Amino acid sequence: LVKDLVNEEMVVFVCSTTGQGEPPDNMKRFWKFIMRKNLPVTCLSGLKFGVLGLGDSSYAKYNFIAKKLFRRLQNLGGEILVPLGLADDQHEWGCDAVVDEWSRGLWQKLISIYPIKDGVRSAPLDSGIPYKFIFCYLPAANHLEFSKKNPYLAALTGNQRVTATEHFQDTRLISLDISAVVDKMRYEPGDVVMVQPRNLPHNVNALLELLPYKPDMLITFHSLDDDDDSTTSLPKQATTLREIATNYLDFMSVPRRCFFQLLSHFSTDENEKEKLVELGQPEGTDERYSYANRPRRTILEVLQDFHLTASKISLERIFDIFPPIQPRAFSIASSPTRHRGKLQILVAVVRYKTRLQLPRQGVCSTWLASLQPNDRVPVWLKRGGIRFPAKQHCILIGPGTGIAPFRSAAHERTSNGNAGRCRTRDKGL
Ligand SMILES: Cc1cc2nc3c(=O)[nH]c(=O)nc-3n(C[C@H](O)[C@H](O)[C@H](O)COP(=O)(O)OP(=O)(O)OC[C@H]3O[C@@H](n4cnc5c(N)ncnc54)[C@H](O)[C@@H]3O)c2cc1C
Ligand SMILES: Cc1cc2nc3c(=O)[nH]c(=O)nc-3n(C[C@H](O)[C@H](O)[C@H](O)COP(=O)(O)O)c2cc1C
Repeated sequence: LVKDLVNEEMVVFVCSTTGQGEPPDNMKRFWKFIMRKNLPVTCLSGLKFGVLGLGDSSYAKYNFIAKKLFRRLQNLGGEILVPLGLADDQHEWGCDAVVDEWSRGLWQKLISIYPIKDGVRSAPLDSGIPYKFIFCYLPAANHLEFSKKNPYLAALTGNQRVTATEHFQDTRLISLDISAVVDKMRYEPGDVVMVQPRNLPHNVNALLELLPYKPDMLITFHSLDDDDDSTTSLPKQATTLREIATNYLDFMSVPRRCFFQLLSHFSTDENEKEKLVELGQPEGTDERYSYANRPRRTILEVLQDFHLTASKISLERIFDIFPPIQPRAFSIASSPTRHRGKLQILVAVVRYKTRLQLPRQGVCSTWLASLQPNDRVPVWLKRGGIRFPAKQHCILIGPGTGIAPFRSAAHERTSNGNAGRCRTRDKGL
């Protein structure tokens, strides 16, 4: 603590100068304290001190803070341990020129005060210094393959509606750029790409309105359970609740029983608690079916119904309450040869009405359809179950986007110059 300085025997100060002769941010509190006019002039009489300044002589107030601190410590009765060191960025060897020299002088002085006893050797340089970082090797596969834990953020290069405008189904040909990683993302016709979707902003806003937290404040967190698969892909750096709600929390699916059970623990409202306990019981299947499953009520809508309870959800529990957003599989519709460096999928945008006539949008397909060129899509590959013969004639039947792997196979076959034909060229894929 800054005020404990008066009780210290020996202190070495290393400080830079910033702004126009100002102390750096992390020194401001100390500066205010040490410059207080009412400090007794002998208050540091028990202190031996050294000051190393870090500065740049191209500034008018070169090493201003270190110089001023040195004088101030002297004026308060401190005893000089080593002369003031002024490191200069302008020195042709950089600040090390003075730092090394000054440090040598400091160690000599310290050893003269505290001589090393016979038989004691100085410790190796890296012993006793607490580590600031820990490095770990990832499993070998992670160097080579993209996966759920390590998705490739592919840039979107195309988002084109391929069904006729008068057709009820909006189907998109989504093109992704994988040119930088073609060797790591090798695929064959019949393979599948996994897409990790994000929630749409208006749904995220609706959720954040219910939770009792500031959505854009920076937060950090880490899982206490290293093996917890649902949290290993979470960001390790500072993030916001909005980011978490956008990228990780599934609140657009129909809740399962354990959701009601967990939610009931937060309830302080008697009516809401009673209902949630009922919905969370194994025996409450009929209740749950008619309230949640049959009308396909989403977690978000449940929280809106139980908003008093939603406002009590603790931040530490959000990864318990909300399931993680599941990745979606899409059959690859492009040919690795003809569309080298690209990955294309055919996405049927899911839109329907529930039995209660509430409009519904599929999370992933709607998100993909909303993307603009250069937006990033987290993807990785999965081997598919279909394999196509290299030469034989074949009849392929696939309803709707079921045609996607056939498009891949057809383009692959015709990529060596064989012509392909389409019955309705302008509506063909
Ligand atoms: C191996 C594999 C390959 C696939 N390939 C493709 C592909 O090439 N192209 C493609 O578009 N999709 C493909 N899919 C499906 C894709 O993975 C997603 O499931 C789909 O895009 C919907 O996801 P979503 O997030 O948009 O919808 P979600 O938010 O997951 O909503 C879908 C849910 O809505 C419900 N639902 C949908 N329509 C109705 C309705 N009319 N009435 C009531 N409930 C309804 C469904 O029960 C489903 O549970 C594939 C799936 C698999 C497993
Ligand atoms: C591509 C695909 C293939 C599937 N094949 C089978 C199958 O052969 N037999 C089966 O019982 N279920 C099959 N299922 C259903 C899954 O087993 C079921 O959805 C299960 O709940 C998935 O659990 P998971 O998502 O934890 O893997 C399949 C699901 C998908 C997406």
